[in-house]
Parts: sequence; structure tokens; C-alpha cells
Amino acid sequence: MAVNPAGVERAAVPGGNARRLALILFGPPGSGKGTQSKILVERLGIPQISTGDMLREEIRRGSAIGRSIEERMKSGLLVSDDLVNRLVAERLRQPDTAGGFILDGYPRTRQQAEVLLGLLAPAGWTAVVIHLVVNYNIIIGRISGRRQCPQCGTLYNDTSRPPRVPGQCDRDGEALVVRDDDRESVVRERLDAYRQQTQPLIEFFRQSDDVLYELDASQDPPAVLAEKILGLLPVKKV
Ligand code: AP5
Repeated sequence: MAVNPAGVERAAVPGGNARRLALILFGPPGSGKGTQSKILVERLGIPQISTGDMLREEIRRGSAIGRSIEERMKSGLLVSDDLVNRLVAERLRQPDTAGGFILDGYPRTRQQAEVLLGLLAPAGWTAVVIHLVVNYNIIIGRISGRRQCPQCGTLYNDTSRPPRVPGQCDRDGEALVVRDDDRESVVRERLDAYRQQTQPLIEFFRQSDDVLYELDASQDPPAVLAEKILGLLPVKKV
């Protein structure tokens, strides 16, 4: 792997443009996975698959799955691999993923990564992992200022991306909400779960045949960071 002048690791992409892109946005809570996904969905014309959003939707619907996972999510713990793997496998069978997709928050454990790569490789997908590297203090600042529109999912931040009218979504005027698991004590649990169960995957990806880029995601505004990610991808922009 070589390092380009921007400090970004570059590697050859196996298969090039002929293969379909499975873009994995990887990083700690608050690193900007959701924010980048939403920009890249627009630019690449492929869907975002956020396991966090899928799980929150199950809770909101009051489904059996939702009831079984609510406490774990509110406590900042990961939910079971089997459940998340099943949700993702079902989602990947939907036709809108045929041209590529963006994974946000998955995989998060070694078991999830093995299941995912087992699905992708035989089906001819190119997995590209973008590791968004952000330091602890910035993460805490970002998460404590995060607000989200419950209607359209647009993400805001009190400091870096305030809405035009305080407390209201710019797109649809909905009252913005704070996520249940963004309380300080829960954020600490989420960061612990990341350090113990998710961060070790970086080494797993390094050892695999897939492409891993490490990107400093702490300073650039979201739009600038998205351009850097797009510049790394083996696909045309729309
Ligand atoms: P999930 O919803 O995936 O949360 P997370 O990984 O903890 O990540 P976040 O959503 O907190 O942060 P983000 O990286 O998306 O940052 P964002 O763009 O919002 O998971 C929640 C829970 O679900 C887990 O704890 C677990 O219980 C369960 N779960 C989910 N997936 C699972 C799995 N695979 N296995 C098991 N359990 C699972 O940005 C944060 C803030 O920063 C925003 O306010 C934003 O506006 C701001 N911001 C973003 N980028 C920038 C920037 N470049 N500059 C300045 N501010 C920025």
C-alpha cells in the first residue's frame, strides 16, 4: 500500500470497474458514517444500509425483534450477530442493492465480517472499506451536539451543522430529536463496545483481500470529506 500526498492510503482495486461496489463505512460512533452515507447515496445513486437505522425502526414498530433489542441498544451494547447478519442478508436481497450499496455500521464484529465477506466474494462484489479516523475528544463533541430529523433522517449538529431555525429540520420543519443512546454514560458504553469488539476488525480487513483506506475524518467538513472518499472509489459519480 502506498500513501498519497493527502496522507490517504491507496491500493489497487481487484477487478476494477467491472465489479459492483460494496462500500463499507467503518469507524467509531460519531465518526461521520451516517453523514457520509447520506452524501454518497446522492452522489453514487446506491442505497445506504444502516444497521443502526434498521434496528431503531424495529424498535419504533414495536416488533418482536424491536422489543428484544431495545434494552441492549439503550445501554450502548451491540445486539446479537445472528440477528444483525439476518437483517443485512435480507436487505441485500432487495433489488435496489444490485448496482452497489453503502454499509453504515456493519460489520461490527469478527463474526459479522466473516459472514459478510462470505456473501460478497462469491457474488463478485468489490468490498472497499473506508476507515474514518476521528479522535476521542472530537467524537464526544460531535455526539453531544447531534440532532436528527425523525421524519427524513437528516443529521444536524449544534456546532458544525446547525439547522436554519433552531430545533427544526431545514427540509420538512419537523422537530429535531436527540437519540436515546446519545446520553454521556451510554456513549461511553458504545465507545467501549467499539474498542473491544469492532476496532480489532481493522487488522482483520488488513489481512483480507479487500481494500482498506484509512482517512483522517476529524478536520474536514462533511462535503470535503465526501469528495476525498469519492476520489478513492473505483466507480463513476452520478
Ligand atoms: P449506529 O446507529 O450504527 O450508531 P454508531 O455506529 O454508534 O454511529 P453513530 O450513528 O453514533 O455515528 P456516525 O458515525 O454515523 O456519525 P454521524 O454521521 O451521525 O448504532 C447504534 C446502536 O445500534 C449500537 O450501539 C448497537 O447497539 C446497535 N447496532 C448497530 N449496528 C450494529 C451491528 N452491526 N451489530 C450489533 N449492534 C449494532 O455524525 C455524528 C455527529 O457529528 C452529527 O451531529 C454530525 O452532524 C456531525 N458530523 C459528522 N461529520 C462531521 C464532520 N466531518 N465535521 C463536523 N461534524 C460532523
